[in-house]
Amino acid sequence: MEVFLLATLFPLVSSATNSLVELRASDVVAGSCHGRVTLVCDVSEEKGITVSSLSWIHVKEKRPLCSTDHSIELKKQDRIRCRYTPQTRLALTISPLWPTDQGEYLCKLRSNLGMKNAKSQVQVQECFSGVNAVSSPSAVACHFYGVFPPGKVHWFHQGKNVTSAATSSIKEDHKGMYNVSSTLQVNEDSTAEEYNCSLWIPGAGTYLNSTKVHASQRTQRIADPNTAVSLHIFGLGSYLLLARVVMT
Ligand SMILES: *[C@@H]1O[C@H](CO)[C@@H](O)[C@H](O)[C@H]1NC(C)=O
Ligand SMILES: *[C@@H]1O[C@H](CO)[C@@H](O)[C@H](O)[C@H]1NC(C)=O
Ligand SMILES: *[C@@H]1O[C@H](CO)[C@@H](O)[C@H](O)[C@H]1NC(C)=O
Ligand SMILES: *[C@@H]1O[C@H](CO)[C@@H](O)[C@H](O)[C@H]1NC(C)=O
Repeated sequence: MEVFLLATLFPLVSSATNSLVELRASDVVAGSCHGRVTLVCDVSEEKGITVSSLSWIHVKEKRPLCSTDHSIELKKQDRIRCRYTPQTRLALTISPLWPTDQGEYLCKLRSNLGMKNAKSQVQVQECFSGVNAVSSPSAVACHFYGVFPPGKVHWFHQGKNVTSAATSSIKEDHKGMYNVSSTLQVNEDSTAEEYNCSLWIPGAGTYLNSTKVHASQRTQRIADPNTAVSLHIFGLGSYLLLARVVMT
């Protein structure tokens, strides 16, 4: 009898159940690039509630990331992990976090007391992996990689802004990070002169990083100390002692 009633009432109940069951999800969660974020979705403890499924959906990609009904298998190496505490909580962890993870997430509940959705928002803070510089007798260049949000290179020489003489390019990778490169033509007689190459992030209104490049007689690639380019050390200036120099 009870079963019969529930079954016939279900369509009615499901449209009117918003007051019967509560779903609470993390509001805005900001995480550092390459870091980790966790979104939680909690089901209110209602008498007699039976959760039939709880899932997290990436709204922009219209893609369920995990669901308690095991419809989505998560691979071990996935950046996405979910942890379900039966009847009460589904926690979604993303690690490492990429710019493409930014956006709205929806937690979806199906229960005997009806369905309910709750929204969360993931924000990714700035990313920066490193910078390489190249110098030759006729040009200086720099290459910032793993950058987010997208930026622009500004060049300074002897206190003057010489950006308008440079040519730049930008490329996005599958993680939503950018490579920003810029080349500035220089006079052959400006050997050893110092150029300042800075990465400007318009959205943030700040310089994310900057490096000094010296025009040189020989073409050389100066990698940042964090990258795995290993060659001998070249004593051009004190900062260069820290860098590894590649002669080509
Ligand atoms: C340098 O020049 C660029 C391009 O001409 C401009 O967008 C930028 O605001 C200038 N920056 C400064 C600090 O003068
Ligand atoms: C960005 O630059 C890095 C380092 O130079 C390189 O390994 C990577 O392939 C580049 N990615 C794209 C999309 O060009
Ligand atoms: C630029 O980034 C490097 C790490 O690659 C860091 O060591 C350096 O301090 C940064 N420089 C500036 C001016 O932010
Ligand atoms: C390069 O110039 C920018 C803008 O004027 C400044 O913020 C930055 O500190 C300079 N970088 C270096 C490495 O001198």
